[in-house]
Amino acid sequence: MTVESVRPEATETGSATGLRQPPVAGGAVPVLGHGWKLVRDPLAFLAQLRDHGDVVRLKLGPKTVYAVTTPALTGAVALSPDYIIAGPLWESLESLLGKEGVATANGPLHRRQRRTIQPAFRLDAIPAYGPIMAEEAYALVERWRSGQVLDVTAESFRVAVRVAARCLMRGSYMDARAERICASLATLFSGMYQRMVVPLGPLYKVPLPANREFNRALADLHLLVDEIVADRRASGQKPDDLLTALLEAKDENGEPIGEQEIHDQVIAILTPGSETVGSVIMSLLLVLTERPEIGDKIRDEVKAVVGDRQIAFEDVRKLAYTANVVTETLRLYPAVWILTRRAVADTELGGYRIPKGADLIYSPYAIQRDHRSYRRHEEFDPDRWLPGRSKEVPKYAMSPFSVGNRKCPSDHFSMAELTLITAAIASHYRFEHAPGSDTRPRIGITLRPRRLMLRALPR
Ligand code: HEM
Repeated sequence: MTVESVRPEATETGSATGLRQPPVAGGAVPVLGHGWKLVRDPLAFLAQLRDHGDVVRLKLGPKTVYAVTTPALTGAVALSPDYIIAGPLWESLESLLGKEGVATANGPLHRRQRRTIQPAFRLDAIPAYGPIMAEEAYALVERWRSGQVLDVTAESFRVAVRVAARCLMRGSYMDARAERICASLATLFSGMYQRMVVPLGPLYKVPLPANREFNRALADLHLLVDEIVADRRASGQKPDDLLTALLEAKDENGEPIGEQEIHDQVIAILTPGSETVGSVIMSLLLVLTERPEIGDKIRDEVKAVVGDRQIAFEDVRKLAYTANVVTETLRLYPAVWILTRRAVADTELGGYRIPKGADLIYSPYAIQRDHRSYRRHEEFDPDRWLPGRSKEVPKYAMSPFSVGNRKCPSDHFSMAELTLITAAIASHYRFEHAPGSDTRPRIGITLRPRRLMLRALPR
């Protein structure tokens, strides 16, 4: 909603004169402003911001950032064309995601790219991925042995990368490459967040071992994507998958899209696809470890619906309790815990003036744990998603995949994958913490437990 649409007296330039400035949130300190709180304990800081106002200003050093704190207003931001993808979060991701991929593009380029990739994620396209998802879920539980201590970070990201790569860029060659993608992304994901919160620019070019390792992983990922594209072209095959859709895509003038765009598109889909799903699998394993009765109920549901055979993709929609466990995990541990936008016009939000060029942030974590939206808000309760009860949840108070034109294209894909994997894991194993497990949240580009070392115990 632009200023013009709500304030006819606004000036020609659209400047929202006369509107109030949002209040400055409490707790700023000289020089660093609220920055030190955002670095020290961002989750607690963001979760209390609504007490200061529906929209509040934060001081990050010399910069002002607008934090949006209510479900209704975060929905309004996500749905409005006045706010685009830009700002510090996205700039920090550019060396990884490139500038021409769907996750970072805006305007007509973004619309065209969404049209190209959307068919691969449509509800009616998902069943074709079912056999791969089931195969990967069972490969995981069969790799594990009773009594074995699992490094859950590696296991979770491995299966997430393999499912995304094998489903969306089919081909047996993908098996070996999926391992290389896993190794590169693991190094990149830890380095990216550091580059985002501690933007030291040229210092990351100094040839220290950590920087060299990061740059090697980045180069290898880019090389891998080039290899995948070249191999597919050389094979002359055109299976019905996302890669074919990208290779056949045309631009506004009906010309094939450029090599750089194809490359950035592959990265922009594989990277969020594996980082988010891997993080949620870790959170799900934490829930199964700390709440064994939930694992028992999933096992019972699987037994009742599937019996003793392997779970097939077709069973997934009947596993209602398991799906509600996944949804409740996404509520309390949203992998995408913070989102940013930039205003492209002077706008009004909740009665406040937001100037053109302003950076906005909002947090699905804070919104989804707010006591104003959820009774017993900190309690893990899958039954709050039963059909009768889920109506109580205010609009936009549960949007782990976001809404609007940037909504995750993969919401159905991810829910099916996570439900299948959770059902397979919980019907085979119980878990207990092993030495070295650290359940504190790791605040990175995504949110997940810091390190989970779990002992798998037989059912
Ligand atoms: C965008 C969440 C899985 C691909 C997003 C956004 C969210 C999100 C919140 C919107 C970002 C914004 O508004 O700024 C999640 C969660 C996932 C998940 C919680 C898993 C549980 C996946 C998977 C893929 C994927 C598996 C691909 C294989 C994308 C892409 C975008 C996106 C390409 C950018 C869309 C655009 O800007 O138009 N995701 N995602 N995501 N996601 Fe996901």
